[in-house]
Amino acid sequence: MISQNTIQQILGRLDITDVIGGFVKLKKRGTNYLGLCPFHNEKTPSFTVSPTKEIYKCFGCGRSGNTISFLMEHEKYSYVESLKWLANKYGIEIEETFATDEEMQQMLAADGLYIINSFAQQFFTKMLYETEEGKDIGLSYLKERGFREEIISRFQLGYSPEQKDAFSKEALQKQFNREVLLKTGIVVLRNEQLVDNYRGRIIFPVHNHSGKVLGFGARILKSNDKAPKYINTPENEIYVKSKILYGAYFARQAIDKADECLLVEGYTDVISLHQAGIENVVASGGTSLTQDQLRLIKKYSANLTIVYDGDAAGVKAALRGMDMALEEGLNVKLVLIPGNEDPDSYVNKIGATAFREFIQSKKKDFILFQLEVALNDAGKDSNKKAEVVNQIAETISKINKAEDFTKQQDYIKQCSEILKIDESGLHALVNKFIHNRVSTLEKKIHSENMRSEQENVFDENSRKAAVTNYEDSTFSLLFKDELQEREIARILLEHGLKDRAGQQLMAEYIFSEMPEVTIFDNPDIQKLISTYKEILNDNRNKVTKNFFIYHPDISLSSLAVSLLNFPYEESEHWRREFSQASGYQEKLFELKYEDFIKTVTEERDNKLISFLKTEEDKTHIEIDSALNYLKLRKIRRMLIENQADLEKPHSTEEYEVLHQTHYHLKKMEMELTRKLGTVILH
Ligand code: GTP
Ligand code: MN
Repeated sequence: MISQNTIQQILGRLDITDVIGGFVKLKKRGTNYLGLCPFHNEKTPSFTVSPTKEIYKCFGCGRSGNTISFLMEHEKYSYVESLKWLANKYGIEIEETFATDEEMQQMLAADGLYIINSFAQQFFTKMLYETEEGKDIGLSYLKERGFREEIISRFQLGYSPEQKDAFSKEALQKQFNREVLLKTGIVVLRNEQLVDNYRGRIIFPVHNHSGKVLGFGARILKSNDKAPKYINTPENEIYVKSKILYGAYFARQAIDKADECLLVEGYTDVISLHQAGIENVVASGGTSLTQDQLRLIKKYSANLTIVYDGDAAGVKAALRGMDMALEEGLNVKLVLIPGNEDPDSYVNKIGATAFREFIQSKKKDFILFQLEVALNDAGKDSNKKAEVVNQIAETISKINKAEDFTKQQDYIKQCSEILKIDESGLHALVNKFIHNRVSTLEKKIHSENMRSEQENVFDENSRKAAVTNYEDSTFSLLFKDELQEREIARILLEHGLKDRAGQQLMAEYIFSEMPEVTIFDNPDIQKLISTYKEILNDNRNKVTKNFFIYHPDISLSSLAVSLLNFPYEESEHWRREFSQASGYQEKLFELKYEDFIKTVTEERDNKLISFLKTEEDKTHIEIDSALNYLKLRKIRRMLIENQADLEKPHSTEEYEVLHQTHYHLKKMEMELTRKLGTVILH
C-alpha cells in the first residue's frame, strides 16, 4: 500500500487540468476548461474540467470523475498505478506501508513473479533469435506460418530450447527464489531438481494492460499425442485466468478508436489479425468467457464482436455465456469463420482486405443469430418451437437496463417477425420474465430492509405494487428512496463540516436526526454514510470532500464525484429523476391514500421549484426536508406493512393494536407532510 503521507502529497500536488490536458486539448471557458471528450466521438466539445472542484464531466456521454478516475478510465490504470503515475510525474517519492504481514508477502510475491517473468521473456526471446536451435526450429516455424519479424518482436515471442534446464540454470545463477520460480510455472521439480517446463516450445508472453508479463502460453512444435498443445501458466498471485484477455495491451487504442472489440479464441488468431492491420482484437484463451472478462471488455467498448470458428464447437462456445454479456449491457455481434478455418488461417488464406470486408459484411446480431440456430434445431416440432419462443423471450428480458429500452423493443419486433408470432404476445412474455426478476429483487430489498415478522405479507404486497407499476414504467427500480438518500449524502459531503447554528456540525445534526431504523436502499450510499460516521467519530478533520473523492474504493469515489457534480447539471438531473420517481410513488399509494397523495404531490412540485433555484445556501432547509422526506418514506412503508397485516385474520385485541398503529403512523405522516409544507412555503 502507498502510505497516506504519499497520497496526501500527490493529491496536494496534482493539477487536474495539467493531467487531463496531457491527453485532451483543453480551452479555458470561464472558470472551467472545455475540450473534445476522449470517451466518445464528438465534433463539438462538451467535455468540461473544473479546476476548483477537481472533477471532469462530459455533457455528451455523461462520464464524470476526478483526476485518478480519469487515469483509470483513460489509461486503464488501477488505483495504485494511477497514484504511481502521478507520483512519477510530479517527482514525489513513494513511501509504501503494509497493513498486514500477509499483504506485504503478497506484494513481494507479485513483484517477484513480475521480475522473473520479465527475465524469462527476455531469455526466451534471446533463445529464439540468437541460438542455432532457436533460429532453425522456432523462428523458421513462425516464419513458415507467415508471421513477420516485426510482429514477432512486437508480441515478444520466444523459444524455449529442448535442453532440460537451459532456463533453470540461468535463473538459479541469478539467485531467484526457488519457491517463486516454481510459482511462475516456467520450471517444475523433477527429482528435487528444477527443470524447464516449456522445453521445445514457442513462447507467447501474456501481458497485463500496461504491458507487464503476467505469464506465458507455450505451444508445442512437434506433433505429439501425449503432450498438450499448449501449456499455460498456473494460477498465481498475478496470473488469474478468469481476468485475462490475451492481447488487451496491444489492442487498447485500436478498440477505443473503433469503439468495437473483436474476440477470438487463440493466441495466433490475435497475432495474425494484428499483422493484417486489425488491431482491436483480444482472445479469451479457448475457454468460455467469464464475467470478469466481459467487464474488462465493457471498460474498453460496449460493442463486442465474437469471431469464432464456424464448426459446432465454435458455435457452442460462442453461445455460452452470452446472456451474461447482454446483462453486462454489451451489444454482441457474431461472425463465424467458414470451413475448417480459424481467424488466423482464414486471414492468411484470403488476405487482410478481404478478411476485413468479410467481418463487416457477415457480422450478425447475436440474439437474431441465436434465434436462427434454435429455430433450425426445432424444425417443425411445435413443442420445440414453443420452447424457442420462451428461450428468446428470456434472452431479450436480460436487456433490462433503462438505457436499452428501445433496443429491447426493437428485438421484440424483429424476433416476432422471424418467429411469425404476434408482437404483443412476445412482449407480454418478455415482461413476464422481467416481472419475475423484479419481484425477486424487490423481495431482496425489502427483506433486507424490514426484517419484520410480517415480511412475507409485506413482500407480497410490494411485489404486487411493483408488478402493476412495471407495466407503465421501466424505471420501477427507482422505487427505492434513492433521491432523498442522495440528497442527504450530498449535503453531508458538501456541508457536513460546517457549523449549524454555532452549536454542532451539520453532520452531527444529520446523524442525530436520522431515524434510527434508517437503512439506505442504495448500498453505496449506505457505505458512504457509515464510512462518514465512522471517520467523523474518529477524526473529524479527515472527512473532507477529497477524502471521498479520492477514496481507493471506486464505488465510494465515483459516488462522491457524481454527488458533487456541477450545480446546474445536478438540479437538472435531480428534476428528471424526481419526476420519474414521483410517477411511481403516486401509483403505489393511490390504493390507500388517494386524496392524501394528491396534496403531497402538489407540495412536492412546489418544493421542486425551490430546488431548482439551487446554489444559494439553502442547506438547512434542504437537509431538513430531505430528512423529513426520508422519514416520511419509511413511515409509509410501515403503513403499507401494517395495512397488509390488517388484511389477515386476527383476534379483536390484535386488530385494536393494528388500528392504533395505523392511526399513530397516519398522524406522524400528516405531521411530516405539514412540516414539509411549511418548509416549502418559506
Ligand atoms: P495454432 O494451432 O497454433 O494456430 O493455435 P491456436 O491458437 O489456433 O490454437 P487452438 O485453436 O487449438 O486453440 C485456441 C486456444 O485455446 C489457444 O490459443 C489456447 O489459448 C487454448 N488451447 C488450445 N489447446 C490447449 C491446450 O492443450 N491446453 C490449454 N491449456 N489451452 C489450450
Ligand atoms: Mn490456429
